[in-house]
Amino acid sequence: MSLLALTASLHAVAAVAQTTCSSVLVPSYSPPVVASGWQAQLVAGGLTKPRTIAFDSTGALLVLESGKGISRHSFTDNGGTCLAPDHAHMIVELTSLNHGLAISNDGKTIYASSVEAVFAWDYDAEVGIVSGTPRTLIANMSNSDLVTRTLLMSKKHDGMLLVSRGGDEDDPAASEIVSNGFSQIRAFNLTNLTTADPSPHYNFNTDGRVLGWGLRNSIGMAEHPATGGIYAVENSVDSVKRNGVDLRENNPGEELNFLGYLNDTNPTTTNQAGKNFGYPQCFAVWDLADIPENDRLAIGKQIAFMGNTLTDQMCAARYEPPRLTFPAHYAPIDIKFEEGGETAYVSFRGSFASSSPVGYRLSSIAFNAASGEPVAAADSNDALTDILTNQDLTACPNRCFRPAGLALDSVGRVWMASDSTGEIYVLQKTGESGNGRFVGGDGGSSGGSGGGNTGGGIENAAGMIWSWRTELLSWTFVAAMGAWLTC
Ligand SMILES: *[C@@H]1O[C@H](CO)[C@@H](O)[C@H](O)[C@H]1NC(C)=O
Ligand SMILES: *[C@@H]1O[C@H](CO)[C@@H](O)[C@H](O)[C@H]1NC(C)=O
Ligand SMILES: *[C@@H]1O[C@H](CO)[C@@H](O)[C@H](O)[C@H]1NC(C)=O
Ligand SMILES: *[C@@H]1O[C@H](CO)[C@@H](O)[C@H](O)[C@H]1NC(C)=O
Repeated sequence: MSLLALTASLHAVAAVAQTTCSSVLVPSYSPPVVASGWQAQLVAGGLTKPRTIAFDSTGALLVLESGKGISRHSFTDNGGTCLAPDHAHMIVELTSLNHGLAISNDGKTIYASSVEAVFAWDYDAEVGIVSGTPRTLIANMSNSDLVTRTLLMSKKHDGMLLVSRGGDEDDPAASEIVSNGFSQIRAFNLTNLTTADPSPHYNFNTDGRVLGWGLRNSIGMAEHPATGGIYAVENSVDSVKRNGVDLRENNPGEELNFLGYLNDTNPTTTNQAGKNFGYPQCFAVWDLADIPENDRLAIGKQIAFMGNTLTDQMCAARYEPPRLTFPAHYAPIDIKFEEGGETAYVSFRGSFASSSPVGYRLSSIAFNAASGEPVAAADSNDALTDILTNQDLTACPNRCFRPAGLALDSVGRVWMASDSTGEIYVLQKTGESGNGRFVGGDGGSSGGSGGGNTGGGIENAAGMIWSWRTELLSWTFVAAMGAWLTC
């Protein structure tokens, strides 16, 4: 790179809030590729399968570490994406906790889930401790295969806790009877439950309001901040056939489903049991070209895949289609809206159910803030905009990040857990054009300093030490480099 180009790239760096960072963590695998207009940095590691992340009322990050419990992390925030782990401690040690985590709107109660139950603890956010014994609020959710129980506390309707429970893969037909409690999202009213209430208070299978069913495994749920509309991202089946043809490579699609509004109780507009989204009978089309006799099909259309007795017409008539469809096997784990309601972020943990790895990325979806609807049409094949991707999908899953939980902080930065690597990333919009910027590592194939990314050269120096240690990229180094440039 010429001196002029290097100077120019330094100027570009200066345009973002934070140009250098004294503690830079470097991934042990190829640094992620960051989309134009974004900057990303790894800010924590060494966690045990972090699945759900959420900020408490003091701004500390709570992390549900699967098989371990809930930890609380504070950071020294130097602006931009420059955050350094400060203090971390376990607030709940309970090995049965495996995915779900939510905090009450007053910040004083923590909810977390095992495969069987939802528990609640009184929480003192200032001190970062829970008190008392956990109360079991909801129980009777065990099954062997799809074991996450995602939790979402409504902000619009305080006290309404949504719980998503997947199906029993050994007995998919059990999901066709709503009272079995499989493959559905229910909402439970926790208002004024006290320790005097029986424990468990609710039986998942018989209590709560069914917001939607026929949902194989809707791991991520979110409430649109303006309209209160509830969306969920669905992990559809791994393997399908149609008329004897194996179509698992590119079908069926993963889904974004719209489940309605929590206050929409009018029976003329809402099925009492919530809408049925088709599992295990009908699935959404993703790749039309792979499907024989596809002339009446479109992306997102519910069709008969399994060689069952239903026709495509029956599928379309009986079941609710997705609002958007994503590529097969992307494995969406979380969805979070930014405050204005114009963007939803979706983490795709990725899968190797197809012949080559797919997913393994953080993407966004554009929404109309006022209507609370995605901008893209239901049959769109490009509703997703990638923000953070792995350099080489063929290295996945072993040498890749695998996105799980997402959280937005008070200044709009996006925090992302990678469960397989035990890491937390922070992403911030820079608004800059050109390549996005990964702080820590070369972010490209060129290696060394002055690599492909705008401004990447500065952090490359730190990135040469490819380990889990917090590297000191000193101000003196940057100053010296600046001095060298100007002489
Ligand atoms: C939840 O329960 C409380 C207390 O019984 C009640 O006042 C409130 O209306 C309920 N909320 C919803 C959304 O049903
Ligand atoms: C909940 O309990 C509080 C305190 O006992 C009470 O003031 C309030 O009215 C109750 N709310 C509902 C909706 O029952
Ligand atoms: C679980 O739910 C089933 C009905 O779906 C019921 O028969 C059983 O008693 C429940 N078990 C517990 C422990 O509540
Ligand atoms: C439901 O709640 C939303 C937002 O809180 C509100 O705008 C809407 O009017 C409510 N709808 C009904 C039917 O109460």
